[in-house]
Amino acid sequence: MLPLFEFAAGQHEPARKRLAELREQLSYHAYRYYVLDDPLIADVEYDRLFQELLRLEEQYPEFVTPDSPSQRVGGAPLAAFASVTRKIPMLSLENAFGDQDLRDFEERLHRFLHSNEPIAYVAEPKLDGLAVELVYEEGIFTLGTTRGDGVTGEEITANLKTIATVPLRLRAPKKGKIPARLAVRGEAYLSLTGFKELNAQRARNNEPLFANPRNAAAGSLRQLDPKITARRPLAFFAYGVDDPAPLPCQSQHELLHYLAACGFATNPHTARCRSLDAVIAHFHHLAAIRHDLPYEIDGMVVKVDDFAVQKRLGTKARSPRWAIAAKFPASQATTRLVDVEFGVGRTGAITPVAILDPVEIGGVMVGRATLHNEDEMQRKDLRLGDTVLVQRAGDVIPEVVKPVIEHRTGSETVIRMPATCPECGERLVRPAEEAVTRCPNPACPAQRLRSLIHFASKAGMDIEGLGKKVMEQLVQEGLVRDIPDIFRLKADDLAKLAGWGEKSAANAMAAIASRKETSLAKLLAAIGIRHVGEITAQLLEEHFGTLEALLHATEADFLEVTGIGPQVAASLADFFSDDSARQMLATLQELGLTIAAGARPREGLPLAGTLFLFTGALHRFSRSEAKERVKGLGGQVASGMSGKVTHLVCGDKPGSKLARARELGIRILSEEEFVELLDG
Ligand code: IVH
Repeated sequence: MLPLFEFAAGQHEPARKRLAELREQLSYHAYRYYVLDDPLIADVEYDRLFQELLRLEEQYPEFVTPDSPSQRVGGAPLAAFASVTRKIPMLSLENAFGDQDLRDFEERLHRFLHSNEPIAYVAEPKLDGLAVELVYEEGIFTLGTTRGDGVTGEEITANLKTIATVPLRLRAPKKGKIPARLAVRGEAYLSLTGFKELNAQRARNNEPLFANPRNAAAGSLRQLDPKITARRPLAFFAYGVDDPAPLPCQSQHELLHYLAACGFATNPHTARCRSLDAVIAHFHHLAAIRHDLPYEIDGMVVKVDDFAVQKRLGTKARSPRWAIAAKFPASQATTRLVDVEFGVGRTGAITPVAILDPVEIGGVMVGRATLHNEDEMQRKDLRLGDTVLVQRAGDVIPEVVKPVIEHRTGSETVIRMPATCPECGERLVRPAEEAVTRCPNPACPAQRLRSLIHFASKAGMDIEGLGKKVMEQLVQEGLVRDIPDIFRLKADDLAKLAGWGEKSAANAMAAIASRKETSLAKLLAAIGIRHVGEITAQLLEEHFGTLEALLHATEADFLEVTGIGPQVAASLADFFSDDSARQMLATLQELGLTIAAGARPREGLPLAGTLFLFTGALHRFSRSEAKERVKGLGGQVASGMSGKVTHLVCGDKPGSKLARARELGIRILSEEEFVELLDG
């Protein structure tokens, strides 16, 4: 694409002006996108402006300013953090546990103020991240620090610049002008999806996992190399300033509006409350919705709204009298590690699972928690009989954080990975470069059962009525030993099983028959080839078209497929050269399984490699027409949101997918942009 403007060398003035324009436009569009959640231009357009800025800045490095969006990518690594001392310390808060503590808080306020007049409050979600301070001089972000001990923090300006919701230059608020100096305080945090993805990636790389999003955010910000920080999906909510006196604001709620007008994200679940009852109601509201939020909150901060009243109340040594943190019941608890079970997955992966004395955590009983893998277990130095700290975070599965060493009696015993498979007795293997221990026996009953369950599941052939319980029964009764057996089932045999009748047997038979005609992609995803999920299966279908072609492919052929790397190619080559796998595929075809035609090679089609998802109503097509158009151009259509989706097409009244897509950084298209893409 051609740049919008091209300057001959030496045309300094126009270049400088154009750069100022680009900075202005880019920062406005980033603000619309990240802070307001309401973008005005398509991502391609943004990228084009950004590329133009980078090119011009390369040509004229003397015009690079500290507020240029190019400064977000993270510069050179530091040797150490500098410490910075602030004049007005960042305070901490006293805690309130439950409604009564909140009522006591108000009573203290009344006593201190010698008045029982109603007090207005602002109640804000308490994000569990890292408190930071951002200093703006003449509107430009110049200094970012961690809270540290409140007075002295660490300088992390370059790292904070990588956060998209940290403005590099303040927007002009409607009320008043930008002050010469503004020190904004708030919470830098990592979303739950960001946290989960980061940990999944670390598990794959065999790196220690972060215990919770808070630690992950802190670890990401206290990185000497800002390029690493730039890759972490951090965000920032502003909740205060060091000193509101010079600002045109009389209260906390006015201050939040002012900060929003300056370009900061402020938390949308904040409420102005005219009474303590309203505060308590909001606390219960937040407790009810906390697990639906895309980030973790551990309570609510209650602040006296009126700055004049705040001033009268003043501060104690470490915390203000005018605010308190109302904490939710803990999402951590201690209990005893009674046993460790070793589960065998579909691909033979052995996962240690902690068996705990059941304990209530945040309203849910927890009796099992994942221990991930052998290295994680050793890193935490867990022993049988240990008292352990267990936590639940959002909808993340419960996990064991650490042993409570102080409670050790000496009778605890070391946990070892078994040498042989707990299900089939085969000697386990652990390839040197992997974190996962596996049972290499393809005939292992546990693996077989899991593979059969997977085959019939939604991610596989999607055979209705053949869920986990039913499959367990069929295997138990000896009716199903392998995948082809599913297609050998007879209605009479099923009808005789405990809990079955003629009707349920007939239904199951019909469901199985309905899946006999299938697509290559569905079959490939269902038969459980290691590293091959729905997406890879699609890629294979598009590239090879027929099962025949796959049976003749070599490892090098698999490597040719866009989106398939060496690990997957090796796994595919292994699978398709295995006699029993080839035999199974032949048997399936003999039993009447047919692969629907229409799977044609799609390499080179314009949308190859894309995965589309739709939300909201379209005007120019029906949903199914739109999907057909995408498929016709080589794209795929997803049925739900995931990190694999590449494009979200957003019609009228979009649903929650839109917010998820923004969070995941997925490209969002309006209907017009979608049409342009199709026609282009
Ligand atoms: S106000 C004087 N507001 O909670 C006011 N703090 O102990 C002090 N926090 O680590 C802070 N969300 O980072 C305030 N909406 C919010 C907050 C909040 C989270 C954290 C803060 C600090 C701790 C206070």
